[in-house]
Amino acid sequence: MVEFRAVAKVSELPPGQLRRVEVDGTPICLANVDGAIYAVAARCSHAGGPLADGALDRSIITCPWHGAMFDVTSGEVAGPPAAESVEAYDVEVEGDVVCVAVEPMSRV
Ligand code: FES
Repeated sequence: MVEFRAVAKVSELPPGQLRRVEVDGTPICLANVDGAIYAVAARCSHAGGPLADGALDRSIITCPWHGAMFDVTSGEVAGPPAAESVEAYDVEVEGDVVCVAVEPMSRV
């Protein structure tokens, strides 16, 4: 069974916002897409840019370094120059607490 860690409060992450947290030492970027919270690895797969410092438009995050885009719901690449997706993590919300899985979602 996948373990989860409490990492933030929902009230600290308004819709349209990103926030960097750590789960067992791994940097994770939380994103609030119209009230639904998603989590992906915070390091851009292109050259390690800080995705939590990027911009969020609907479910698409844009890396602040060279403009790669990723879908925060899946971690999939949505625009160059990144070629590889970033890991996505399951999120559970319990009351005002955001919990993120310690292991990334498996890809089929
Ligand atoms: S490091 Fe993110 S686009 Fe280059």
